[in-house]
Amino acid sequence: MKLYFLSTAVVTTTFIYQSYALPFDQAEEEFSYTRKLLSEIDVQEAVKQASPLINILSWDESYAKAKMLVDQMSLEQKVNITTGIGWQTGPCVGNNGRTTSPDFPELCLQDSPLGMRFADGVSSGVAGINAAASFDRAAIRKRGEYMGEEFRAKGAHIQLGPSMNMLRAPEAGRNWEAFGEDPFLVGVASAETITGIQSQGVMAVAKHLIGNEQETNRLVHSANIDERTIQEVYLWPFARSVEAGVASVMCAYNKINGVYACESDYAINKLLKGQLGFKGFVQSDWSATHSTVDSANNGLDMTMPGDISFYSGDSYFGKNLTDAVQAGRVQEDRVTDMVMRIVASWYKLGQDQNFPNTNFHSFRPELDKHIDVQSDHKNLIREMGAASTILLKNLENILPLRTSGIKKMAIIGSDATTNQLGLECEDHGCASGSIASGWGSGTSRYPYLVSPLDGIRARAGNIIDITEHLRDDDLPVAAELASKANIAIVCVNANSGEEYITIKAVADANENTIVVIHSVGPILMPWSNHPNIKAIVLPGLPGQESGNSLADILFGDVNPSGRLPYTIAKRKEDYPAKIDHGMSFEYSEGINIGYRWFDKNGIEPLYEFGYGLSYTSFEYRDININLNQGTANDNVDVQASVTIANTGMVDGAEVPQAYITFPEIADEPPKLLRGFEKIFLGKGSEQVVNFSFRKTELSYYSVESHQWVVPQGEFKVHIGSSSRNIRSSATFTLS
Ligand code: BGC
Repeated sequence: MKLYFLSTAVVTTTFIYQSYALPFDQAEEEFSYTRKLLSEIDVQEAVKQASPLINILSWDESYAKAKMLVDQMSLEQKVNITTGIGWQTGPCVGNNGRTTSPDFPELCLQDSPLGMRFADGVSSGVAGINAAASFDRAAIRKRGEYMGEEFRAKGAHIQLGPSMNMLRAPEAGRNWEAFGEDPFLVGVASAETITGIQSQGVMAVAKHLIGNEQETNRLVHSANIDERTIQEVYLWPFARSVEAGVASVMCAYNKINGVYACESDYAINKLLKGQLGFKGFVQSDWSATHSTVDSANNGLDMTMPGDISFYSGDSYFGKNLTDAVQAGRVQEDRVTDMVMRIVASWYKLGQDQNFPNTNFHSFRPELDKHIDVQSDHKNLIREMGAASTILLKNLENILPLRTSGIKKMAIIGSDATTNQLGLECEDHGCASGSIASGWGSGTSRYPYLVSPLDGIRARAGNIIDITEHLRDDDLPVAAELASKANIAIVCVNANSGEEYITIKAVADANENTIVVIHSVGPILMPWSNHPNIKAIVLPGLPGQESGNSLADILFGDVNPSGRLPYTIAKRKEDYPAKIDHGMSFEYSEGINIGYRWFDKNGIEPLYEFGYGLSYTSFEYRDININLNQGTANDNVDVQASVTIANTGMVDGAEVPQAYITFPEIADEPPKLLRGFEKIFLGKGSEQVVNFSFRKTELSYYSVESHQWVVPQGEFKVHIGSSSRNIRSSATFTLS
């Protein structure tokens, strides 16, 4: 039978493992975990040192301090700081060289975008794609804050995230690490994450610049993207990250228009440091550096993990860089600039004061102090898990479940439970059982994983008789069980192609079937219209509290308010982009990524971008537009407001979304997301929601003038609850 799941995490494993084959094997051998008991002193010391009162300096202040230090350094010392010490040579996935007299420490660079990798005592929360699905700026920021707090307490200076590559091809293996298909949403989520992480004195890393939208051939292929598309789609989240003060940017493995990203004068010097005015440092992805002179001259500031290839013992920087300076092929000023950028970022985040020593070890557990830094973060993770769960279908209001009416519930599918293998295997590379995260370098180890079964049992096990078939085979058994229950819950995930068969077997046998999907991204749902499937719930990748967050939604303790950060198509062919197996390929859909493509070509999706149901209903009214400054120039300032009322029977959160239709001259897709808010409304209450559109939101990129331009003419503002459910529109004209 056909494989229906589009996003197979297998894609990730194949390619991440390919590039990491040797180190991963070795890491696994060394990882025989014997957890040491925490010593009270360690914990107190770490907590004391992890003081959250960080005074973040301006770039000017940071550069002034950096200059005093860097002025005292020799060429060799400067080069040392720009060069990683080699894969698996230090405690972190990356460490650079230190200097003494003047003193500059070895910085610790550690994965991942969702929490700390290769460490214990850390939280493993919702993935990036879920953070985006929450459409909740404040929650995304809080997620950044708790991650930053954990990295700091472990003594990691640099968190290798957020990941902000675009969900272009639904099958791309790492879509789940980032924030979906819309640049505006990705930009907001990136900026909030960075602000959160950096508020704890930890440097965030915007990655991967740019064109790393698939894993296949990522080390060698060229992503060919036209100028306008780079500006409007792929560079956009980096622009928002620079505005948020991000300390570092990671250049990607792939080539951009024929040139390796880490030696691309265009991407690094012209766009990032030139146009966006980025003041921090550019680090390479792991072994993405391909040269000494070209990389240095074209803007790379730090090579990671340092060696040319893992364990090679040599580096494109290090002595090669010193030699290149001495031979006049790289100016010493350029090396000084590299170090200034690194040292200034360190001062900016206040890491010169009371920064905890690195107290974990990625590769040698016997050197790890095993400090538990989780604090109460599980509470936020549970909340975010529920807040990012998307209710796709809810016939006859079968949800929320009323425990009193249900005698027997059947829970079916291997995704409903966990097993040792799935929990312990490094980087979740051999994930089995319930999925609450993708796999690869973008993971962190689960401290525990509450399975759907455990979560549902904890909530309702003493009221409802719960029967279970925690496998995806023996379908007659599953059907038999389902036929004897009032409600059947089928848990499926995107790691297997078999579950849709289970879904059908159960749905045929039970007219109150609820499908729960743990998936890394969009999936095809040829079964969604089965009349017995009354509800479809998409928790995506909710992290360690998975089952609890799910129970919160199923039983109505939390009203669902997650919204799709991507389009779910009816047919695979409806998507504009797929994985390319060649060495060079065009982003031929251009600026028409995601829902823009569906809008432009009149294709009906199954579930559109921004979609998600609630247990209550919301009315939108009184859209108002106010032109504070109605001229089409850089000071443009347009305000829109709408009144939203909770007209249903329960409290709940709504996500009003503002889309803009540009004047024809701009030649934009039919509408672009340019604002969203998440508001909580008690039943019967209402609130005015304001949106503000300025130059960033109202300009398009002109390839004639190579600039962002606010066009003259008639704009439309559409405010709705999804990209296709527009409740209210209004026009304004800029002259
Ligand atoms: C990934 C990066 C990651 C790095 C270090 C690379 O393979 O692309 O995102 O930060 O490894 O583990």
